[in-house]
Amino acid sequence: EYDPALIASGQALSDRHGLPATHHLQDVMADVAIQPEHTPVALHACGDLHVRLLQLASAVGCKQLALAPCCYNRITADSYQ
Ligand SMILES: C[S@@+](CC[C@H](N)C(=O)[O-])C[C@H]1O[C@@H](n2cnc3c(N)ncnc32)[C@H](O)[C@@H]1O
Repeated sequence: EYDPALIASGQALSDRHGLPATHHLQDVMADVAIQPEHTPVALHACGDLHVRLLQLASAVGCKQLALAPCCYNRITADSYQ
């Protein structure tokens, strides 16, 4: 997520529930600092956002990720793959 307000509210929710999660601001279409030990989480990630996150997490070898894709039409390619 790259909206600071959503990062903050997500972190507040995780903290309230005692979850050991750190919410990082990240433009997923820019240079991304995902490490193999990270567990990327994306809820309602539109089109190219979830495709790119899958490619990045796969490329660095993340052992797990949680992804709820949406808006399959919001892509720059002619067709969704
Ligand atoms: C459909 S909303 C989902 C928001 C929230 N995760 C939820 O489930 O309610 C898509 C989100 O993608 C974020 N977004 C758009 N472009 C992005 C980018 N390049 N990198 C990271 N997040 C982005 C928007 O700020 C928006 O909050």
